[in-house]
Parts: sequence; structure tokens; C-alpha cells
Amino acid sequence: MLVRAVNPLFIQPDATGIQVSSPLVPTRLRIGPEIAELLISARTPLSVPEAECGAASSRLAAVEQLLALGFLVKAEEDEPAPAAPSPWDAWGPVAWWFHQRTRNVAFLPAEQVGDFRSELLTRPRPSGYAHPGPETPVLLLPRVRRPMTMSFQDVLEQRRTHRTFTGQPVSLDAFATLLHYSFAPLRFSDCGDLGVTQLRAAATGGARHETDAYVAVFDVRDVSPGLYRYDAIRHGLLPVDARADREFWEGLTSRQGFFTTGSFALITVAVAERMSWKYRQARAYRFLLQDVGHVAQVVSMTATALGLGAAITGAFQDDLVDQALGLDPGSEFATFVMVCGIPRTRDDGMPLDSDFPSKPWDLS
Ligand SMILES: Cc1cc2nc3c(=O)[nH]c(=O)nc-3n(C[C@H](O)[C@H](O)[C@H](O)COP(=O)(O)O)c2cc1C
Repeated sequence: MLVRAVNPLFIQPDATGIQVSSPLVPTRLRIGPEIAELLISARTPLSVPEAECGAASSRLAAVEQLLALGFLVKAEEDEPAPAAPSPWDAWGPVAWWFHQRTRNVAFLPAEQVGDFRSELLTRPRPSGYAHPGPETPVLLLPRVRRPMTMSFQDVLEQRRTHRTFTGQPVSLDAFATLLHYSFAPLRFSDCGDLGVTQLRAAATGGARHETDAYVAVFDVRDVSPGLYRYDAIRHGLLPVDARADREFWEGLTSRQGFFTTGSFALITVAVAERMSWKYRQARAYRFLLQDVGHVAQVVSMTATALGLGAAITGAFQDDLVDQALGLDPGSEFATFVMVCGIPRTRDDGMPLDSDFPSKPWDLS
């Protein structure tokens, strides 16, 4: 009999052994090194005699089991290797492992929630606030809120990614208002023995609010250019670095030109321990990335309501950005870089680079 391994097939050693899985097979399997070797050699059609004895018969039994599960399929001589299904052919094993190992996790039944909370309390709860220390100077921002009179419908319809800006300075009040609504708590919630949690404009898994903000100021009225951490509780800026180098940030963000005319940049940072303290499965990393999408949308919509525009990029040099911000290696990391300013727009408020369809949409 001629067999071949299903494609794609992912074989991963981990702390407890070797796991095999495939997007085309509903189960994943723990295997020993011999089976791993068998599957690897079946990446091209492998001939297995149908009547075997001794060690060869246990190999035949393994082949039959793998056929029944779907990790092996019957092959034809000279059959071209089938293409792997999208998107895993493109994204490969790293994405696949994360995807499938974080799916279908067991969530706690209601009767175990009490035990879960008690277990949580055995570990020190990380602060929801990065204490700067009393000696750190803080540049307090205005607490007046710039009125946002644009209708919600207009905000929804006008929000666009803006990549070019007029180069005019942004007013301090608009800047402060954007930080407030995007990153500061608007209310607080009493969570009993789990402490007081922040409630911000964006929803977040378990009210963990692990997203903090750093700000690179280039041209904001009354704020010295430089890099700051936003102190969401005191609504102020903590100086990190007096340099504000547009060219440096361009280099860290694939030279897309956002920094040429942007007035300031917001770098969202995950303080991951706030999340991992409560959610201890790998799936929590998904929550963290989902959370920052919420935050970025609040930034983008608030910017629109304030007459500003925002560009967003996930294309940045992680290590260099984290180092520039002076983050705690490993436990804090940048998740997005956003650039804001007064956008250059067409008469209808759309970005100058908007290309409207000149021909009908081919829906095929
Ligand atoms: C996760 C993410 C990453 C993005 N990265 C980039 C980027 O690197 N460069 C860019 O020009 N736009 C980037 N964008 C903006 C998208 O291109 C933009 O949202 C999309 O074209 C739709 O346009 P709109 O935001 O005006 O609706 C990104 C958006 C998101 C949500």
C-alpha cells in the first residue's frame, strides 16, 4: 500500500513529548519518535507492505491507525503533492500552533469560579497603574475636554486612516482629550477581593486594561518635543527621552512616511502581567491582541471627532521600539504604533490618497 502524510502536517516537540496536528485533521496526537519519523518519511509517497510480522506488523498497525485518523492518506504512484489549504500554507507552523493550541480551551464551570478566585488571590495582583515613583516629574495635562460636536454617525462615516498631515501643531486641549478618552479610566468598578478596576472607553478582557500608552511628541502646542509615558491616573506625561526624532521613528516603522508630517505618535504597550495574572492560558495572548484593536479604534474615532486623523501600523521593529521606550524586557511590549495630526484631506474629508473605484467591482 502506498501512503503519504496529509499536507500540511505539523510535528512539534514540546516539554511533554511530540505532538502532531494538521488543519485537515480534527484531532491532535501525542506520538513517539518512531511515528514522527514514519510521518516525516511519508511526506513523499511511502510504500508499506500489507502483510507484515514482528516489528514490521506494529508499524503496519500504526499506519492503519494514522490512516483512520487522517494523518496518512492513501496515495497514488506519481501523484503530485496536494497543495496545503490556505491560510496555513502562507502562515506556516508558528501561526498554526498558536491558532490550534489556543482553540477550544476548557472554560471554568460556574461552580469552580470561587476556587479560581481564591487561587488568584494567592498570587500578588499586579497594579493596573505603572507607578512612576514620587521623584518622577509629571507634566500634568489640561482636564478640560475639547467639545466633540460631530455626530456619532459622522464619526463613523468620516473615520479613515490618514497618512499625511498638514504639519500644523495640534492644540494641547485636543491632544489631552484624545489621551483621556483613549487611555484613561472614565469610571471605576469595585470587584471585591479582586480590587478596584478601571473602566475605559474600550472594552478589555476581564477589565484587565493591560494597554498603556507612550507618546512621541513632535509638534503639540505647549508640550516640549520628546518621548513620554502617559500617566492615565494623573492624566499627565512622564518624560522618558528628550529626543523626538522623526527620522528615527520612520526607520522603526518601515519608512511609510507617517512621521514626516505627523504631530505626535502613540505607541500602545501591553503590560502583559496584568492579563496573565488572571488569565493563565495561552489563549489570553489572543485577548491581549483583541484588546489593543479596541483601543486603537477608540483612538481613531476620537481623533476623527476632534478634527484629527490617525495612521496605524503593526509594521514596526519590536525590539528596537521596546528598547526606545525603555520597556521591561519580556513582560512589556509594544503592540501598535499610531501617528496623529491634523490630516490633509480632500473637500469631502477623505484622505488625499483615497482612490475611489473607477470601474465596477468585479465580485467574482
Ligand atoms: C492591524 C493594522 C495594521 C495596519 N498597518 C498599516 C500599515 O502598516 N501601513 C498603512 O499604511 N496602513 C496600515 N493600516 C491601515 C489600513 O491599511 C487601513 O485601515 C485600511 O486600508 C482601511 O482604511 P481605513 O482605515 O481608512 O478604513 C493598518 C490597520 C490595521 C488595523
